[in-house]
Amino acid sequence: MHAMNVRMRLPAPLAHEAKAPVAGIDLRPATAADADALAVLLTAAFPGWDWPVDQVRERLLDTPDVVCTWLATIDGTIVGTASEQLVAEAGDTVGSVHWVAVAEGQRGRGLGRVLTAAVVDGLWARGVSSIRLDTQVDRPNAIALYAGFGFVPEIRSSGELAAWSAVMATIVRSR
Ligand SMILES: CC(C)(COP(=O)(O)OP(=O)(O)OC[C@H]1O[C@@H](n2cnc3c(N)ncnc32)[C@H](O)[C@@H]1OP(=O)(O)O)[C@@H](O)C(=O)NCCC(=O)NCCS
Repeated sequence: MHAMNVRMRLPAPLAHEAKAPVAGIDLRPATAADADALAVLLTAAFPGWDWPVDQVRERLLDTPDVVCTWLATIDGTIVGTASEQLVAEAGDTVGSVHWVAVAEGQRGRGLGRVLTAAVVDGLWARGVSSIRLDTQVDRPNAIALYAGFGFVPEIRSSGELAAWSAVMATIVRSR
């Protein structure tokens, strides 16, 4: 069973420091030809989630709500991804940061930040009114990454309130 889903939201553009490229890393939008490599990356990054190649096409590459899937590559090999998704919400179109993942051996060097920046900047450029994301409470590293961009918890129940209390304490104490 997966941990509790939680939502974060960035209500307005906020300056961030992720513009500088990471040495040796290239960023580009995915194409249909990347489906197999993306399935391998996502399967490894999300143990317990189902990421066969047809799901990559269905959830990312062939669905009109996902307007760009960004890839980070090293010498042509895919080492990270994050997608721009558009979501209808209360008569408005909001952005969503969708399926962020970095290959295990490449974590901790700024790739998650560069990919998230590409998605956030891309979504604002499309005119969305806010940007949200869904994650799980057992992903403090991801939550810290998003908090660094100004994403804040959007608390929808007393269960989520308690879960946020615990995860925020974990993040701050580990610094
Ligand atoms: C979450 C994930 C994408 C982060 O990618 P990354 O390339 O390692 O992240 P970065 O090196 O860009 O780190 C950026 C920020 O993220 C947070 N972070 C990343 N790794 C962290 C760690 N091990 N401990 C604490 N904070 C961490 C920090 O805030 C960090 O900023 P800092 O370096 O100034 O402290 C990566 O760990 C991953 O793919 N995890 C598995 C899949 C997943 O959980 N995806 C998110 C689903 S919502």
